[in-house]
Amino acid sequence: MKVEEEHALQVHQQQFGQQGHASAAPARVNLIGEHTDYTGGFVMPMAIGFHTIAVISPRQDGRAIFYSANYKEEASFEVASLKAAPRDHWSDYPAGVLWALQQENISLGGFSMTLAGDVPLGAGLSSSASVEVATAMALQHHAGVKLPLEKLATLCRRAENDYVGAKCGIMDQFVVAGAVAHRAMLLDCRSLAFDLLPLPEQIRVVICNSMVKHAVATGEYGDRRDEVEAGQAVIHRERPGVNLLRDATLEDLEACKNMMSASSFMRCRHIITENQRVTAAREALLQEDMKRFGTLMIEAHKSMRDDFQASCAEIDLLVEIAMQQPDCFGSRITGGGFGGCTVNIVRAESAEQFVATLQEQYAAKTGIAAQCFVTAPSDGALALAVDGGAE
Ligand code: GLA
Repeated sequence: MKVEEEHALQVHQQQFGQQGHASAAPARVNLIGEHTDYTGGFVMPMAIGFHTIAVISPRQDGRAIFYSANYKEEASFEVASLKAAPRDHWSDYPAGVLWALQQENISLGGFSMTLAGDVPLGAGLSSSASVEVATAMALQHHAGVKLPLEKLATLCRRAENDYVGAKCGIMDQFVVAGAVAHRAMLLDCRSLAFDLLPLPEQIRVVICNSMVKHAVATGEYGDRRDEVEAGQAVIHRERPGVNLLRDATLEDLEACKNMMSASSFMRCRHIITENQRVTAAREALLQEDMKRFGTLMIEAHKSMRDDFQASCAEIDLLVEIAMQQPDCFGSRITGGGFGGCTVNIVRAESAEQFVATLQEQYAAKTGIAAQCFVTAPSDGALALAVDGGAE
């Protein structure tokens, strides 16, 4: 990553004529636990080795100038009068983080910031959380503060919810900030308590991009969330002990079936069973039982496809091809859904062959060249800063 950092520092120097300070944040992939985060449930993501680098230097005119090295474009704001006014533009994400820090009464002077990154966009690998957390790391350096993990993640989520207007949960920002190399993170999205779980050395996590674009900020993600919340509200009304879906059982849901729409019922059923699967997946991982882990991934995929109805034909095809490979333990859609990537657990020695076969068969059936990445769990932004990574 040093190379990317140096490149970003150079770009900053060229753009603003000043030396800057670099911070980095990774992307993430979720192994299991989809759409459970915003109802207080369990998720199991890990950080992966794509990064956003944010380079910052002070300026005296009270302005915040963001330069995107990827889009080769600047966006300028007046720090003192920043309002939550999204423009449906890449700069909404970093400006949202600045705004969220101000909401916490953290005062900031003017600055120039360069953002550069290699996170695939619209692939469900959390390019937005990566930009948010990298921006927050740079801004906290600029303000001379060090926020704890919970605060950092919550603030970045707030930027996305209340400034950008995307109703995401806490998973992405939390793991992008708090992940640790060689570990997956089991996160309780209600208490924000987490476990760091080692992955067996004999396996690889292979990510396959269907190349079908996905976006959290638009339509379907929000629609699903509304259906979930409507169902949750009915259960809460009927079973007052249940505040969040996380506390509900399938019996609770059944008892309320006639009081909610058929789609709310199915969405809630996905979430209740998904929380059970994440808990079971944790056990499987602790016992290094990858067969069991893989079976849970397959069940999770079916539930996302049939109950949550957030898959698509291309993703289902990727999962089907993957499961025909002898050394693949499990495969499922990952992230918000409606396109994006699959995540696959594959025996290490077969990972390359797995990728070649998958790409060949997917291209033969769809005409699309899928991008695949053989990944390992990497450090989140806070660990990178401590290790001397970018800070
Ligand atoms: C997106 C959101 C997350 C989470 C996932 C689905 O990535 O940003 O908060 O809801 O979708 O699990």
